[in-house]
Amino acid sequence: MSDFVRIVEVGPRDGLQNEKQPVSTADKIALIDRLSATGLRSIEATSFVSPRWVPQLADAADVLAGITRQPDIAYPVLVPNLQGYQRARAAGADEVAVFTAASETFNRTNTNAGIDESLARFEPILALAAADGVRVRGYVSTVLGCPYQGQVPLADVVRVASALRQMGCYEISLGDTIGVGTPRKARQMLEAVAAEVPMHALAVHFHDTYGQAVANIAACLDAGVRVVDSAVSGAGGCPYAKGASGNVASEDVVYLLQGLGLDCGVALQPLAETGRWLAGLLGRNTGSRTGQALVAS
Ligand code: HMG
Ligand code: MG
Repeated sequence: MSDFVRIVEVGPRDGLQNEKQPVSTADKIALIDRLSATGLRSIEATSFVSPRWVPQLADAADVLAGITRQPDIAYPVLVPNLQGYQRARAAGADEVAVFTAASETFNRTNTNAGIDESLARFEPILALAAADGVRVRGYVSTVLGCPYQGQVPLADVVRVASALRQMGCYEISLGDTIGVGTPRKARQMLEAVAAEVPMHALAVHFHDTYGQAVANIAACLDAGVRVVDSAVSGAGGCPYAKGASGNVASEDVVYLLQGLGLDCGVALQPLAETGRWLAGLLGRNTGSRTGQALVAS
């Protein structure tokens, strides 16, 4: 099993999409440029969803145009449909992420489409992306619980993750959108999916609503996952997932990985300083315990 864990930093997208406090385009660009200097290899930069649904990220094209891209860093962007893919490509994106859910009701609330309808929306995106040489990541949301349906059957998670993989997504991120998971359930869910989709093509994506995210990640690392999504300063949440709070903080994940002797290539101090800087911008304390410990206020 590899000792390298790739962190997919989702702060600029998942972190900012639910922010009440307006964040300027210049500050979003500064955030991504600061993150680019920490050793991260994947930074989800923004999203080309409908600006009516997520006004916070309406400036996606300007953000992508303004950042200083580093050659060894991927800057994926979220796209919900073909229109989003075309906007993303026009803005210069060379990696995209599509997203659906294991819960029908959540997916309808989030994207105005059923699960199978959203999978059908992705077919032309995957086809175009293959021709364009664009890598596509896939998200499955609500893998450990849904704000509308409650329990989500494991079989539904496995079915949707397998469908995304078969369609050509190079990696499937399993999202505990509302942060209700606990370690044993998280591991069981991951292992059920890994029976159908190779572990090296899976990522875990935890929100920290009940303070379980780091424990869940530790359990999933034990089970063999080597890609972890997180957001600097623990920012974030989905506007269409009632009760969803922040993502697990990247600083806390890096500290965990260092303690476990797993390499992620990320320098903790500049990451923690970036987390404090972002928290200041948002007018609150950092949501990372590691960040609080490392950076004096
Ligand atoms: P819809 O209203 O059904 O769209 O929304 P439509 O196709 O009927 O089009 C309606 C209007 O929207 C049209 O404009 C389209 O042009 C426009 P009009 O003719 O009325 O002027 N439109 C767009 N404009 C710009 N970019 C686009 C686009 N598409 C349509 N891409 C849609 C359907 C999917 C677009 C909408 O529901 C949407 O954007 N949803 C996204 C919601 C979202 O971003 N949620 C958060 C991300 S998911 C998440 O956070 C979970 C995750 O982190 C993992 C986890 O935690 O589990 C990934
Ligand atoms: Mg999320």
